[in-house]
Amino acid sequence: MESSGKRDGFTTTVGVIVATLGSAVGLGNIWKFPSLTGMNGGAAFLIIYLAMTLLVGLPVMISEHVMGRKARADAITTLQKLAPGSAWWLIGAAGVLSAFLIMAFYTEVAGWVFAYVIKALSGSLLSTDPAVTTQAFTTLVSNTWWSLIVQWVVLLWVAFIIVAGVSKGIERMTKRLMPILFAILLIICIRALTLPGAGEGLRFLFQPDFSVVTWGTVLVAMGLAFFKLSVGMGTMITYGSYFREDQNIPLTATRVMLADLLVSLLAGIAIFPTVFTYGFAPDAGPSLLFITMPAVFASMPAGGLFMVLFFVLAAVAATGAMLSLFEVPVAVLAERTKLSRKGATWVTFAALAVVGSLAALSSSTLADVHLFGMTFFDLFDYATQNILLALGGLFICLFAGWKWGSAAIQEQLSNGGTLNNGVVVKAYTIVVKYVTPILVFLVLLNGLGIV
Ligand code: PHE
Repeated sequence: MESSGKRDGFTTTVGVIVATLGSAVGLGNIWKFPSLTGMNGGAAFLIIYLAMTLLVGLPVMISEHVMGRKARADAITTLQKLAPGSAWWLIGAAGVLSAFLIMAFYTEVAGWVFAYVIKALSGSLLSTDPAVTTQAFTTLVSNTWWSLIVQWVVLLWVAFIIVAGVSKGIERMTKRLMPILFAILLIICIRALTLPGAGEGLRFLFQPDFSVVTWGTVLVAMGLAFFKLSVGMGTMITYGSYFREDQNIPLTATRVMLADLLVSLLAGIAIFPTVFTYGFAPDAGPSLLFITMPAVFASMPAGGLFMVLFFVLAAVAATGAMLSLFEVPVAVLAERTKLSRKGATWVTFAALAVVGSLAALSSSTLADVHLFGMTFFDLFDYATQNILLALGGLFICLFAGWKWGSAAIQEQLSNGGTLNNGVVVKAYTIVVKYVTPILVFLVLLNGLGIV
């Protein structure tokens, strides 16, 4: 229980936006988006991803925000308050599970990013030879102790911010980090656009080739939309519960969605022109960030500096996202048990270190352990991005659109009638009732090969 009677929350409208955007922008933009776009045909993937963001990501985000703000509670308690005596609270419980599974692999990738900031500073990554940069990456990930240590460092960094609280920790930190993120991203983009391969890189990103698109591609794009916007697992319920009463929720969610999209596109603009200029392959997949990019930077003038900036950018982006993932179980523990926020943080820290080690060791000690044909790292990544978040999102829409009822939604979206946004409310209601759930259902069935 919170010791003071008043629940902590975001203090200003700007605070709400930076924290929420901080959650959305992350390794999803800098690591997943470029590599998935590269592997799935560039612009064709981008168009499907855009449609999924609008028709799936945004409506789920708005639903989560209004639910959280109405109940002013953690993800599980929110559902219990809004639908007492029912099983809907399982959405919140599944969200806590997703938060754990995502954090398990996310903190490991973030750990590599942190390690790469130091490696980039030392100059040890500066080689134009992909064999050398491959070696540097393999050495890091195949070492049992280093794999664990980088993850613990990241977990400690996030825990220290979380302990400080919602306004004094999350809000204050994201307010500092977001301007840094945009500044670095712009610098790298300007550099990329002035390279000779800029045209080719941009064409790859913006000229669609639909011949590579399958139902599997659509599933990946939908999963990415969930992952990128941090929806389908209660993060946005938890953050919504810290929103101000006068926050215009549809407007806030739309702004966050657009800004997140902008960051993804800028990351693509920073990466693909440079990759094409120096003759590397755009479809290297997840290793694009850690193997291709260092070699690319080593090829360009003052590349050492840009490499440092690039990995600082990734570290900054990852931090805001991890804060929101960490906050989900912390809020549940602090509000539903006798633990203080501090106690809840360290219990979560310990649990994450244990679950996380399964993912951390997936390239070393546990490399040969496979479940459903995947290492723990890949399984956690696949199961959350492609299945759990989509299922969570589906049930959140069913709850908001069918169980909760139009009157309650109308009241929340218009802030008790003070906002003049009848058209928005109508559009949202139709989309959340019919379009999103049907779309998610169809894509899940087809993408997973069930139909
Ligand atoms: N949206 C974050 C990113 O793009 C990841 C994330 C997923 C954060 C789910 C919270 C919840 O990196």
